[in-house]
Amino acid sequence: MKLAWGVEIAGTGLGIPDRVVTNDDLAQRLDTSDDWIVQRTGIRERRLGRPDETTLPLATKASWAALADAGLTPQDIDLIICGTITPEHQLPATACELQAALGCRWVPAFDIAAACCGFVWSMTTAAQYIHTGMADRALVVGAEYLTSITDMEERSMAILFGDGAGAAILRRSDDPQRGVLAARMGADGARGRLIWVPAGGAAEPATTRTVNERLHYMRMSGREVYKFAVTQMHEIIQETASEAGVTVADIALVVPHQSNLRIIESACKRAGVPPERVVVNIDRYGNTSAASVAIALHEARQAGRIRPGQLLMLVAFGAGLTWGSLLMRV
Ligand code: ACO
Repeated sequence: MKLAWGVEIAGTGLGIPDRVVTNDDLAQRLDTSDDWIVQRTGIRERRLGRPDETTLPLATKASWAALADAGLTPQDIDLIICGTITPEHQLPATACELQAALGCRWVPAFDIAAACCGFVWSMTTAAQYIHTGMADRALVVGAEYLTSITDMEERSMAILFGDGAGAAILRRSDDPQRGVLAARMGADGARGRLIWVPAGGAAEPATTRTVNERLHYMRMSGREVYKFAVTQMHEIIQETASEAGVTVADIALVVPHQSNLRIIESACKRAGVPPERVVVNIDRYGNTSAASVAIALHEARQAGRIRPGQLLMLVAFGAGLTWGSLLMRV
């Protein structure tokens, strides 16, 4: 087994809105039901942010918590990466706004727009910066205010998504036993329009017409994405393990993107990961895109589900289409 990059997770933190919205709450104004949502997705409730609980405030809260958990101050951080598809503003990057909000030094700060892979890709990128010596202590965040791009009048979309943020501090480790064993990143841009936001970018800037036609909300071909996810996710898990020279049975905990309980269960079963080794919290948060793996990772650490020396895998897929994994000995 080879160790690719010597890094460790020094701390994690959470930033979630207070407001809980249950399936029954949604069923009061949409033609849907708790039964339908639970059976098709596994979601029971989600957190939806108020106007003052958007991407940046949630990311800031998660970052302070991760810093405290790691016993570090903002001054110790020398790289900030934020995975998000709902940046606080189109310009500048949310990571730059986060740097200012936390009072960090003038360190590199940038966003990664890889949808639900945002946190996994950000962790992989940060680990590489640390490996090459360009950084020692990175703040890695997954943060979303999906409320801003979700059509709350469209029942097939409104039920799926939630808001939130999770953060991790990735630090150089000289322990030869600790670090990243293997990572995968992939994308298929030809299938980009399976999940996309038609307007608001350079191709179709905001006009009264685009707003009236609701073109600033996500559009998704749910069934196509579902098929992609169940076929792709188990392969990524198996390929990442074999690239690292371990078996799936060696992995103590898998933290998958929380998109749909049926996708998680089917992918993990096909990959040979037993349910007790899979982190699931979609019932309480829904799909929070880039925040999802970050939130689940934090909750797993808090619950003592990851012990030193064990193998941990983060795995995600999402719009782009994108996919990614990171296998670490923690
Ligand atoms: N309540 C009740 N009925 C509904 C609802 C609802 N909320 N939403 C849709 N339906 C109806 C549809 O209208 C349809 O009715 P019809 O048969 O009369 O036409 C029926 O239910 C079936 O609809 P489908 O869309 O085919 O339902 P499906 O079983 O595929 O479940 C779902 C939909 C949950 C979205 C599923 O396709 C899925 O999870 N896809 C993957 C989504 C995903 O993982 N995206 C990740 C990326 S997101 C990102 O990157 C930001």
